[in-house]
Amino acid sequence: MSKEPRKSAWGAPFGPLIYQSTISQELHQLMLTEALKLQEKKENDYRQNLAGNIEEEYAYSDSVRARCTDEILFLCSDYTEKIGSQGALVQPWTKSIPEADLELPQLWVNFQKGGEWNPPHCHSGLFSFVTYLQVPPEIGQEKDEEHQKNSFPSAGRLQFDYGEHIPFTNVTHQMLPQEKMIVFFPARLRHYVYPFKSEVTRISVSGNIFSNKTNWQNY
Ligand SMILES: [Fe+2]
Repeated sequence: MSKEPRKSAWGAPFGPLIYQSTISQELHQLMLTEALKLQEKKENDYRQNLAGNIEEEYAYSDSVRARCTDEILFLCSDYTEKIGSQGALVQPWTKSIPEADLELPQLWVNFQKGGEWNPPHCHSGLFSFVTYLQVPPEIGQEKDEEHQKNSFPSAGRLQFDYGEHIPFTNVTHQMLPQEKMIVFFPARLRHYVYPFKSEVTRISVSGNIFSNKTNWQNY
């Protein structure tokens, strides 16, 4: 019997792929400036389309959305390429989806305040994302408060759920949002956002991405 080190292979080749990156300073600035305008005018209230138990959620105008689209679809293409490299993407979505095949028809901003939350839900489209424009540090610091000293501190976190509760398997994935972070995920992947207690406002932007080459309404 030998305990010599040797080559091995390992991985978790099942389940949805979640992708994290950052948005540019330019896109951050554009989305934040326009978000504050929407909030000031209370324009394009989007709550009827959303699951969030959040008082202020607004859709961006078509023209602002158009200005955000290039960079978001560029990042989404990198995401779909990663999915393809896992072999998970099948026709009619080829391994690398050219940017021209993707569309961003839905883009909105959430102003999440202390005590507000987003219950379990999924989105429309093929891929979805969330990015964070303003993340007050108080939210992350809540992990040191008494009410978070448990086995599952979750204040202000984004959580994805997928799969069966069998031993040695992750069935949830939590992320603590950071400013300029962007997270892509399959639109139908169930997720939710826990409330935080701090009297602050976190500003996030979400959107749904479709492909103009597919009958997306089936997905
Ligand atoms: Fe969502």
